[in-house]
Amino acid sequence: MPTQRSDTPVLLIGAGMIAHDQIVPTLLQMRREGVIGRVSVCSQRNRSVRALAQAPALRRAFPDVGFDQVLDSSAGANERRPDHYRHALAGLPERSVVVVAVPDQLHRKIVLECLRANQHVCCVKPLVLRVEHSLEIESEARDRGLLVGVEYHKRFDPRSLMARDRYRAGQFGEFRLGCARLMEKWHYRDSNFQNWFTADATDSFVYIGCHYVDLVHFVTGLLPSAVSVYGVLDDLPNGRRGYLWTDARVLWENGACLNVQNSLSYPDAAPGPNTQGMTLYCTGGGRGALLDHSDQYRGIAYSFGAPSSGPGGTQYAQPSPDYFLYQHLGGPGLVPTGYGVRSVRHIVQEALRVERESSSLEERRRLIAKIDREGILATPSNSRYNEAVCEAARESILNKGALVELAFPAD
Ligand SMILES: NC(=O)c1ccc[n+]([C@@H]2O[C@H](COP(=O)([O-])OP(=O)(O)OC[C@H]3O[C@@H](n4cnc5c(N)ncnc54)[C@H](O)[C@@H]3O)[C@@H](O)[C@H]2O)c1
Repeated sequence: MPTQRSDTPVLLIGAGMIAHDQIVPTLLQMRREGVIGRVSVCSQRNRSVRALAQAPALRRAFPDVGFDQVLDSSAGANERRPDHYRHALAGLPERSVVVVAVPDQLHRKIVLECLRANQHVCCVKPLVLRVEHSLEIESEARDRGLLVGVEYHKRFDPRSLMARDRYRAGQFGEFRLGCARLMEKWHYRDSNFQNWFTADATDSFVYIGCHYVDLVHFVTGLLPSAVSVYGVLDDLPNGRRGYLWTDARVLWENGACLNVQNSLSYPDAAPGPNTQGMTLYCTGGGRGALLDHSDQYRGIAYSFGAPSSGPGGTQYAQPSPDYFLYQHLGGPGLVPTGYGVRSVRHIVQEALRVERESSSLEERRRLIAKIDREGILATPSNSRYNEAVCEAARESILNKGALVELAFPAD
């Protein structure tokens, strides 16, 4: 897609880990290139926004461009103002773009409010946790001719696009059995996670397992049909309890089965920011076929003279150059690249394209319906199976891993 200049402002709601690691660098790079207008960031605490503005990695990469801090002048640094985003929304011209990066259970409310304020939305995954909420969001967006893109960045990893292309060309035959794992590092428990990663709200499968469910659909086009999730309850550092370890079995419409294991347990001393990968066994042309992705070890191994600093920093490391990378390419600061950057960028650019290429509500709806059908960008309607899986997974995990059939309307 050719890059076009625009002065459309972008608001980011949420100033946590994903904002720091992926979203803000992407938006600031787009701002630097003139692809978007001013970037502003709000959160429920002034402290988080200020910390993001001061973050050493961002300051080093972007000495030439920054974001507007939307602070609540009546609140102390650490005072919680969960409705402050409304103030930020009110200051945004209609049909701009909002990126929503708050904890999962707030997505529904905040995405709906963004739509009601006539904003296009890019929401981090999972969009919402229930099918009915995804339908609600779809209907609100359709009525107003607004794009909602769900940020499943594994879709923009070249290996996913390669697999999708080859699978759909018939080179693997049909998927039958597979396994996937994504274990985040142990120290996640010590972060803000302990405030929201509680058993009543979410679990390791819903938090990160959804990536591989989405990917199997993205590659194969198959839809999931039932899910069973067994979770192990464990203590968070603040004394709350969460399903920090999960084992899921996802069944597919053709009878295939994917086992997905997730946890916040990958040792801080182990190399790489996490461990993850997927293996699919398929029928091939009657002789079997295999698709095997190591999504953590991407061919780079370093042993440093001393351990890296920060939580999860190790002396022996296996960094991924593919998800997110700052590059020094001359000029001021650093240029972020990788599939995390391409993913956020793609959604924001598609929202801008909807505005650029349509001159009426009907035209916007037509273009958004086309984006839906293409199935590259995840939308509420073309990725609703993810909400169905999340919903069934929550029911299953609270019922000791009972098999729950999925119920969701076809597109
Ligand atoms: N691989 C991925 O796609 C990926 C990775 C990480 C996180 N995420 C998703 O991103 C979201 C945020 O995760 P995170 O890791 O950044 O969490 P985090 O806890 O580090 O950050 C959440 C942020 O939201 C803010 N927030 C909470 N309530 C708010 C409110 N009412 N108004 C405004 N801001 C509010 C918090 O203050 C914090 O700044 C979650 O939905 C998570 O599932 C996706």
